[in-house]
Amino acid sequence: MAELTEPDPIREQVREKYAAAARAAAARGPAPSSCCGPAEVALTDAAGAQVFGDALYDPGESAGAEGAVGASLGCGVPTAVADLHEGETVLDLGSGAGADVLISARRVGATGRAIGLDMTDEMLELARANAQRADVRNAEFVKGDIENIPLPDATVDVVISNCVINLSGDKAKVLAEAARVLKPGGRFAVSDVIADPAMDDATRADMAQWTGCIAGALTRREFEQALAAAGLVDVEIRETHRVHEQAAAAIIRARKPDAASCCSTHALQACCEPSAKSPCCGEPASTTAPATCGCNSASPT
Ligand SMILES: C[S@@+](CC[C@H](N)C(=O)[O-])C[C@H]1O[C@@H](n2cnc3c(N)ncnc32)[C@H](O)[C@@H]1O
Repeated sequence: MAELTEPDPIREQVREKYAAAARAAAARGPAPSSCCGPAEVALTDAAGAQVFGDALYDPGESAGAEGAVGASLGCGVPTAVADLHEGETVLDLGSGAGADVLISARRVGATGRAIGLDMTDEMLELARANAQRADVRNAEFVKGDIENIPLPDATVDVVISNCVINLSGDKAKVLAEAARVLKPGGRFAVSDVIADPAMDDATRADMAQWTGCIAGALTRREFEQALAAAGLVDVEIRETHRVHEQAAAAIIRARKPDAASCCSTHALQACCEPSAKSPCCGEPASTTAPATCGCNSASPT
């Protein structure tokens, strides 16, 4: 289980920015507006199309969650690609006003559970109000850091997130935590910003661009490597639209290995709880795992 994350300057600036965004959305009411970025980051593309927020949602998909969708700060619609099923447990990293949690909660039904995790009190308050207004009862909003997810190992079927991982100063930790809480075979389906490999140093160093989801973004290659290092497999990154002259929004999908195929060096670290690993798991990393290595058949799935 996670311990509290030490305060860090990036996180504090991100928190302040999104606390202000939540206060503005609460004052405004459920009206469509907003975006991920601050004024320095374009909200629309060169043709005037909105590249962040509620305009990305199909009204049919978001029925009943309009208030939360109106306050969306995302750069995609992870629920459109997460293939959610009745009874599943979904975790949204950086849930903001709650749009993707509420949509997920409806998809997984009364036997499922949708959990939003966010570090900003004002966002949690807004999300809970949106859930109440939408009369969604199988959604909960938990305070915490995505670098230290306050959930036990192997308890989540699907991790989603919408334009949040780029905001973290420790993306490797976020992905390792996502892999830890996923059940074997669990899915990772997020929308995020990916930086062009040639993003210039001035953009990368600009804190306003960071809190606006652009400067902190990984490149496609870095994201692929970070997901593999976290033990996730079947990585797929698909660019959806440009959000900046040096960055694009993308759908990023991956999967935690099934218990039965828990045998790569990375998977050994990620695919099941220590108590469920067969004896060879957890031995010093080698390049080739023994053929018998994996989770015990009694491991939770
Ligand atoms: C760009 S907004 C996206 C919100 C939501 N996913 C959406 O699509 O509207 C980023 C959200 O992530 C939260 N956040 C940013 N960094 C975080 C961290 N390290 N841990 C937890 N929450 C974080 C912020 O408080 C904010 O609500």
